[in-house]
Amino acid sequence: MLVAALWGILPAYVANSSAVLWGGGTPIDLGSRFPDGRRVLGDGKTFRGFVGALLTGGAMALLILNPLSPALGLPRFTVAAAAGLSGGALLGDVGASFLKRRIGLNRGGMAPGLDQLDFLAGALVATYLADPAWFAAVYDPASIAFVAVVTPLVHVSVNLFAYKVGLKEEPW
Ligand code: CTP
Ligand code: MG
Repeated sequence: MLVAALWGILPAYVANSSAVLWGGGTPIDLGSRFPDGRRVLGDGKTFRGFVGALLTGGAMALLILNPLSPALGLPRFTVAAAAGLSGGALLGDVGASFLKRRIGLNRGGMAPGLDQLDFLAGALVATYLADPAWFAAVYDPASIAFVAVVTPLVHVSVNLFAYKVGLKEEPW
C-alpha cells in the first residue's frame, strides 16, 4: 500500500533532514585526507549530526508515529525497523559524501540523483536487513518504486525551504 510505504519512510526523511539542525563539531573523518589531498568525508558529516539525527529519526518512529499508527490502520514501527530506517538513512548519506569526495566534489557540491536518493537506498537496505518481516509487510517492488519517485521531490522541496530560511548553505 502506497500510504504505508510513505508512512514507513518518514523516519528516514526526518533523520536525514534533521542532521542539519544538529550538525557541527568534530567531523566523522576527523579531518583525514586521502593521499590526493581530498577529504575522506568532509566537514559536512559530523558525529553530533549523525547521533542527533539518528535519535531524532528513531524518536519520530517510536514516539510520534507509532501512537498514531493503529488509528490509521498502518503497521507499527519495531525498534529494529526504526533503527534501520534512521541509521540506514544516515549511513547512506555518509556513503554518498565519501563518493562525492572521491569524484572531486567538495563539501556541499551538488551530485544530482545521489543527494536525493542516498539516504533512501541506505534506509531501505538497512531496514530490510534489520527487520525483514517489517520490511516485507510495508514494501514490495511497486511501493519501493513509488517512494523512489516521491523522495527526490520531497527532498528538493525540503532543502529549498531549509536554504530559504537560512538553515542550509546550498539549496540541495
Ligand atoms: N550534517 C552533519 N552530520 C551528518 C550529516 C549532516 O553534521 N552526518 C550537517 C552538516 O552541517 C551538513 C548539513 O547537515 O553541512 C547538511 O547535510 P548534507 O547536505 O548532507 O551535507 P553537505 O554539507 O552538503 O556535505 P556533503 O557534500 O558531504 O554532502
Ligand atoms: Mg549537501
